[in-house]
Formats: sequence, C-alpha cells, structure tokens
Amino acid sequence: MVTIALPKGRLADQTLDLLERLGIDCREVREESRKLIFTTNDGAIRFILVKPSDVPAYVEYGTADMGIAGKDTLLEEGRQLYEMLDLNLGRCRLAVAGFPERKNSGITNSRLRVATKYPNITKNYFSGKWEAVEIIKLNGSVELGPLTGLADVIVDIVESGRTLAENGLVVLEEICPVSARLVVNQVSLKTKNDEIGRIIEGLRELLKGERS
Ligand code: PRP
Repeated sequence: MVTIALPKGRLADQTLDLLERLGIDCREVREESRKLIFTTNDGAIRFILVKPSDVPAYVEYGTADMGIAGKDTLLEEGRQLYEMLDLNLGRCRLAVAGFPERKNSGITNSRLRVATKYPNITKNYFSGKWEAVEIIKLNGSVELGPLTGLADVIVDIVESGRTLAENGLVVLEEICPVSARLVVNQVSLKTKNDEIGRIIEGLRELLKGERS
C-alpha cells in the first residue's frame, strides 16, 4: 500500500482531478465529511488529508510515502525528501509587496519590518540581499501588516493579484514562481519503487500530454 498525503484547501480539488485521470478512485475523498483517512477499494492507496504546510513533515518521516505540496511550503519547511515532479497546478508567485510609494523609495531601508507566513523564505531572501529585516510571523491575512502599520512590507504568495489590488498594495519584488510538486519519502522510493514508480510515470505521461 502507498500512503499519499493530500493537501486540504485550495489545491485539493485539482490534485484529486489529476489522480482520477490516473484511474485512482477518489470519490470517497471528495465526499463532504470530517474523515481524514481513506483507503481505495482495492486497498492499493491510502490517502491522508493534511494541512498543506504539514505535507512535507508527513513525507519526510515516512508516515506518507508521497505527497503533494506547493513549492512555497517546500522552501519554507526545508525537509529531507525527493521532489519528483512539477504538477503544474496552483501556479502563483512569492513576492515582496507593499504600498506603491515604496517602489520609488526602494525597499532597501535598514531594518524593514516584514510580515509573513513564510519566516524562513523571508530570512533567506533578505539575507541573500544583505538586508537586515525584522520578521513578524503571521498566520493569515498578511496584507493587514502594511495596512495597519504593523509592518512595512509583506512576503506572501500572489495568485490573481486581487487581494493586493483590493487593499491598495502592489508587488515590489518577485522572489520566485510557485507550483504544486509531487514529493516522495527517500526510503519509500527504494522500498516501494514499483508502486511509486507507476504513479510517477503515470503522472509524468499525463503532464506531457497536457504540454504538447
Ligand atoms: C493567500 C495569500 C494571499 C492571497 C493571494 O491567502 O496569502 O492573501 O491568497 O491570492 P490572490 O492573489 O489570488 O488574491 P489565503 O487565501 O490562503 O488566506 P490567508 O490570508 O488566510 O492565508
């Protein structure tokens, strides 16, 4: 049996669509319920539904053999696992954002206060630019940081750009593009090579078909 950690929330439906196209029965997972563990009828696959930012931990420890996680989460968590495929889902970007006036003044003032759900990414990004920042970790609605004066700028994901626009904020610097990745436990890749290999190859073929 292969255990797959599925992220709850915005990536969930697209991920299930992809797995169903591989012939994996995901009907039970789609049903509205509070259940967190599902096994396919043939007993080949067990799904565990986890908070997106927890997927890398489940995969690193081998509780899940594989999982689907955003590149943002992988960069933030820095876990030991294999990133096997770019699933081309949940495309967005990580960026520094703030009020448009900051564009002209630059964001290189000393000791910027940065609000973010991604303290590690933020630390790495600004230390790469030799900028001293004070990082304020928030758990959501990060855009409130500059709006309330809590922070000068934010580091966050930008998808449609709507949240920024509706709050009078703009992208100041791009950090990197983000998309969902298929990740695999390092031991499982050896011990369950056939089962995991089949899923990876199936997904690879599907994605190739989409690109061509
Ligand atoms: C994310 C992110 C931005 C927004 C970006 O928040 O933190 O706030 O989505 O999307 P957009 O560019 O399409 O507007 P999420 O919806 O996950 O909620 P949160 O603020 O509670 O984390």
